[in-house]
Amino acid sequence: MPLPTIRLHEAAREISRIVQGFGSIIHEERMSERELAAYLDACVDEGINTCDLAAVYSGGAAESVFGGALTLRPGLRERLTVITKYGIEGEGAGYHCYDTSREAIVRSAERSLRRMGTDHIDVLLMHRPDMLMDADEVAEALLSLRKAGKALCFGVSNFLPHQVELLASRLPFPLAVNEVPYNLFDMDMQENGTLDLCQRLRIAPLFYSPLGGGRLFAPANARDRHLLETLREVARQHGDAPVEQIAIAWVLRHPARGAAILGGGRAEWMRRAAAGARIALTRDQWFRLWTASKGYEIP
Ligand SMILES: NC(=O)c1ccc[n+]([C@@H]2O[C@H](COP(=O)([O-])OP(=O)(O)OC[C@H]3O[C@@H](n4cnc5c(N)ncnc54)[C@H](OP(=O)(O)O)[C@@H]3O)[C@@H](O)[C@H]2O)c1
Repeated sequence: MPLPTIRLHEAAREISRIVQGFGSIIHEERMSERELAAYLDACVDEGINTCDLAAVYSGGAAESVFGGALTLRPGLRERLTVITKYGIEGEGAGYHCYDTSREAIVRSAERSLRRMGTDHIDVLLMHRPDMLMDADEVAEALLSLRKAGKALCFGVSNFLPHQVELLASRLPFPLAVNEVPYNLFDMDMQENGTLDLCQRLRIAPLFYSPLGGGRLFAPANARDRHLLETLREVARQHGDAPVEQIAIAWVLRHPARGAAILGGGRAEWMRRAAAGARIALTRDQWFRLWTASKGYEIP
């Protein structure tokens, strides 16, 4: 059965509800271009057609190695939706400097294009809210990139509702994406209005760390262990599915209709987790897991 997909505002293609993340798979030369090309083949075979990168990932090496892998596979670029991000520019001792000025956005996007060896970015995101963001300037930069065909659609990441509304108020096109943390260990975005705004404006949330950044496999306390036990019980109701599939199915059950971004880079793990996108949890199962995660009875 193919992986389910969602359509983003303004996007030409539907993105798979499982996205491959590049936050750490290239880190410290964990994967060569050749190994990444083979891994991308496995992702595409599985129905994953979207990759999540950022200018800052692995100091730029994520985009460069990804670009190298694409050159080893002629035709692969056209099959993939490429997401990348701008905004985190410099690093000092103990701090990051964000820059979302017009020049910095255009410079970052053009550098990403060069590193990846592609002529367009499918979805370009502001990586984190910049406290010095001038929304008019951002709008100018995005419009010029769009006009030049260098980026096709746009979004944000880690934005709270008021920040989404500020930027959206200056754009003549809709924001397509808000990439946010969401998993059974971290539900802030469900509670602070972010996912409600996504649903209202039909912005697709991309859920990062759907497996809790690995916490699912290394429970940190008694509540995590209780949650894991409840996941196993729900998994039994789905033919003894692996718990990561149930964790994925849980985030994808949210009516804002998002996609889950996986972090790891091993084909066997990716296949096991991705199959969670085909599991439909009942309301009863969803609420049972929510309650187990909270660790107290919800009225
Ligand atoms: N926009 C943002 O600000 C932002 C922030 C964070 C992440 N992201 C995006 O989201 C992506 C995913 O984030 P994430 O890495 O936190 O996601 P995740 O999929 O929740 O966690 C990945 C971790 O789980 C471990 N893991 C996966 N399958 C496993 C298995 N079967 N058994 C044991 N361990 C397993 C991996 O181990 P290994 O390390 O051994 O592979 C890895 O450490 C990132 O790559 C990035 O693209 C975006």
